[in-house]
Amino acid sequence: MLQLFFGFVFLSSVSQLQSLTGAQAECPLQLNPQRVVVRYGSSVAVNCKTSVLHKGIGWEAIEGAVPMTKNQNLITWRVINLTEWDIKPFCYINYKIGDKNQCIEELPVALYKTPDSVSIRTVIHRGPMIEGQQYELQCDVHDVAPVQYLTVKWYKGQTLLNQTIFSDTIETPVNKAITLLIRPDRADDGAQYWCEAELDLGAEGPQPPPKNSSKPLNVEVYYKPRHFSSTETIIKDDKVMLDCTVKANPAPDYTWSSDHLKEKISSSVLKSSALSPGKYTCTTTNSLGRDSKVFILKSTGAQDECPLQLDSQRVVVRYGGSVEVNCSTSVAQKGMGWEASEGGVPMTRNQNLITWRVSELTDWDIYPFCYINLIDGNQCVVKLPVTVYKTPDSVSISTVNHRGPMIEGQQYELQCDVHDVAPVQYLTVKWYKGQTLLHQTTFTDTIETPVNKTVTLLIHPDRADDGAQYWCEAELDLGAEGPQPSPKYSSEPLNVEVYYNPRHSRSTETIIKDDKVMLDCTVKANPAPDYTWSSDHLKEKISSSVLKSSELSPGKYTCTATNSLGSDSKVFILKSTGIRPTFWTVLTVFQLSVALISVI
Ligand SMILES: *[C@@H]1O[C@H](CO)[C@@H](O)[C@H](O)[C@H]1NC(C)=O
Ligand SMILES: *[C@@H]1O[C@H](CO)[C@@H](O)[C@H](O)[C@H]1NC(C)=O
Repeated sequence: MLQLFFGFVFLSSVSQLQSLTGAQAECPLQLNPQRVVVRYGSSVAVNCKTSVLHKGIGWEAIEGAVPMTKNQNLITWRVINLTEWDIKPFCYINYKIGDKNQCIEELPVALYKTPDSVSIRTVIHRGPMIEGQQYELQCDVHDVAPVQYLTVKWYKGQTLLNQTIFSDTIETPVNKAITLLIRPDRADDGAQYWCEAELDLGAEGPQPPPKNSSKPLNVEVYYKPRHFSSTETIIKDDKVMLDCTVKANPAPDYTWSSDHLKEKISSSVLKSSALSPGKYTCTTTNSLGRDSKVFILKSTGAQDECPLQLDSQRVVVRYGGSVEVNCSTSVAQKGMGWEASEGGVPMTRNQNLITWRVSELTDWDIYPFCYINLIDGNQCVVKLPVTVYKTPDSVSISTVNHRGPMIEGQQYELQCDVHDVAPVQYLTVKWYKGQTLLHQTTFTDTIETPVNKTVTLLIHPDRADDGAQYWCEAELDLGAEGPQPSPKYSSEPLNVEVYYNPRHSRSTETIIKDDKVMLDCTVKANPAPDYTWSSDHLKEKISSSVLKSSELSPGKYTCTATNSLGSDSKVFILKSTGIRPTFWTVLTVFQLSVALISVI
């Protein structure tokens, strides 16, 4: 009864029969499994089964053939050590239903061999690489099959750089050499490059797919010294160093020059306390080039010889803010006072502490000093350095001569306007993309009154920058005596839209036909791309980005993604699982059902 019921179900769902896998329908043989993936030299066993009356079944193959057998419904093709690259086994049956009396079922066999070795090397080059020059790396994959399932991947550290697939259909082992062009920069010094050969044999293959990696290739990169900023202002202090140290490969030599130095010095750091105020230039040199940095050393203004003590060696005052500094002495004197354009204190006798005090400082150029008239008739003074500052009224960012989306790879200029800030020698303008610092600018101008500053930045946005936010920041770092943390003012972010053409990450992909598998051509691009498919198997052009593999015949499908900037094609090679539905399907199922009913 149960079999009869199944027969009825088969007959009643004739409309679905075209999409049925078809093995049982065409030839009353079932292979289990229906496709095999076998490692070279290992064993394989596949059952061939029938449920119909027959006059004999058997397996035909160069190895493991099973002679025609009667009175059995299940026979097994078995090989202990499969080494035949070109093996095409099939199971056959002699039976008598209708006008057919023999049929066969082929077993697709993918015999594979993992590579004997995977190795990496540089082509025509030995020793350290030079920053910015181009080098070729080669990956050698030895004795692997079948290459149509091979992917060779290039890595730098853990980052995938590139991958290559092969369209060759040769089944026996081959050697493959793949090259990669690199242009290392200073960040790549010490990087490890390596390549990996992966054999992805599909769902029936070993899981995870076997991977063989080369040993890493250690890259040494030579690069010249490059200072982060070309000028630095230093306030002389016991603890402060003029530090010229900079990374370079080979390690650089240092030389200092200055009007204040009698001879050239070759260390990378100088003690500020041992130097007179002035300009010191440090030049860093290695075999690739040189870079200089200027240190401007400023004195705190304290003079040791005069018996006066200030309770601040230097003051930093916001424009319009208040300031108070004590001047004291411990020696006998005939009078002391403060001289200044604001807050001066007239000469006072019989006091050893006097205070310079201004409640609203509005003089940009103020040079106060405290003086003392000594008993011996001499006078001496101590100067108080005053820095008056003003934070910017506004910081804004804009693009120069451009509006709307940018095009990948083209150059654009951004501009940062900092309005009404003083003194600019303490100003740093920083450029950011998101949270990444791109560049910073300092100023050597010595003007003390507020100015406007415009700083520009050239950018070459790429596809990864679509949606990025650029912004700039003005920071006034007024030293240890200044406000902590240093006042910072940021522009609003500038949102950048980048137009870029579609670019597939691989140009070919092999797909095994399956109900669930899609030919997915989707690719990122801006503006959003249009898709067209072409193939000998398609009657008309299709414009969706995905096709169902189950609805297509095996063969080559080319998908082209296009937007206003360009187009890019990808080829999908659709392979069948080895089972071929035919127009005999309906008839054979009908016959099978009749056979089932008659068995009951
Ligand atoms: C498998 O066959 C190959 C070729 O005939 C032979 O060299 C190899 O030793 C065999 N391996 C095993 C495990 O029998
Ligand atoms: C200056 O001295 C006076 C008297 O000793 C003291 O009250 C005041 O806090 C001092 N001011 C500063 C700024 O140190």
